[in-house]
Amino acid sequence: MKTKILKLSQNKPQADTIRKAAELLKKGQIVAFPTETVYGLGADAFNPSAVRKIFAAKGRPADDPLIVHVASIADAEKAVKEIPAVARRLMKKYWPGPLTLVMPKSKKVPGVVTAGLKTVAVRMPSHPVALALCKRVGPIAAPSANSFGKPSPTKAAHVFADLKGKIPLILDAGSTDIGVESTIVSLATKPAKLLRPGKITVEELRRILPLEIVTSVKKSERPLAPGMKYRHYSPKTPVLLVLKPSAGKIEKLVQSEQKKGKKVGLLCLGRYRTGAERVIIIGKTPEAAAKRLFDALRWLDLQKLDLIIAEGLPEKGFGMAVMNRLRRAASRIL
Ligand code: TXA
Ligand code: MG
Repeated sequence: MKTKILKLSQNKPQADTIRKAAELLKKGQIVAFPTETVYGLGADAFNPSAVRKIFAAKGRPADDPLIVHVASIADAEKAVKEIPAVARRLMKKYWPGPLTLVMPKSKKVPGVVTAGLKTVAVRMPSHPVALALCKRVGPIAAPSANSFGKPSPTKAAHVFADLKGKIPLILDAGSTDIGVESTIVSLATKPAKLLRPGKITVEELRRILPLEIVTSVKKSERPLAPGMKYRHYSPKTPVLLVLKPSAGKIEKLVQSEQKKGKKVGLLCLGRYRTGAERVIIIGKTPEAAAKRLFDALRWLDLQKLDLIIAEGLPEKGFGMAVMNRLRRAASRIL
């Protein structure tokens, strides 16, 4: 299959391009599209054979459920058995935006979307392209548009690198704004549980509802968000994450690895003089770091390095989401 890339404007997506993509989706095809977090790979959520194509293209295990994207509360109501009052409060404050809510599913949602679970994850994206597509097609089931195990795509080129030949169309509206995936909250348990940290922070959410944090799981337990049991965001090159970095510490680490004959890449927040073979600076604020993180990991992984040393940041606010991805990418944490 030939994979077409169509460019469109983020703020004013061209109607004819949206129409083409919507037609493909309605015919049971899958299409990659930008959201404000990362690129998604979508299918009509109520068409099980279309949804199966997503799992095949990504090489995604069938026990990892997808997020249903909607353009209206009415469409969310079609996917969910009943929307609890607290969900309505969260939707009012954060939708459209990077907050995914897990609630008991309606009968209409096919089991392949939820991997057989009785709950469904729903979010209303704020990206004009994603919203326009959902408006035309109805609920769209979409995971991140990377192949399984790779970092999520924040550019159309990342999607192309992973899925070329496997999907008919990628909509390209440039780099995504946020850069890491949505916050996921399960409202199917009491108290509600944070399943994945994101741009909407725990601190913010706790002003609205009590929230338990369960983003790491032991191997033996059945994870609440099935996707969490898989190693994610992992470059092929080993990643050493340094939790409490200082200029001296990073410099020493780089040099001692180089003495062992290793080619070292550095993923850092600010500027250091270390002599590392490759350096990529992603920025000091969690917002800046999140935006460039996955692109930086993909780039470093192409540089034929023996080791990537990554600088950690404080795990509060949005920093928690960035560190969650870095911890998952890391093969060693220091
Ligand atoms: O920002 C995002 O959320 C992006 C964009 C494309 O919207 N999507 C995304 O999807 O990151 P994905 O499939 O890569 O991650 C979805 C996560 C998985 O870890 C999955 O296990 C979890 O959501 N999930 C989906 N449905 C669930 C459910 N019913 N209960 C618990 N976890 C669920
Ligand atoms: Mg994903």
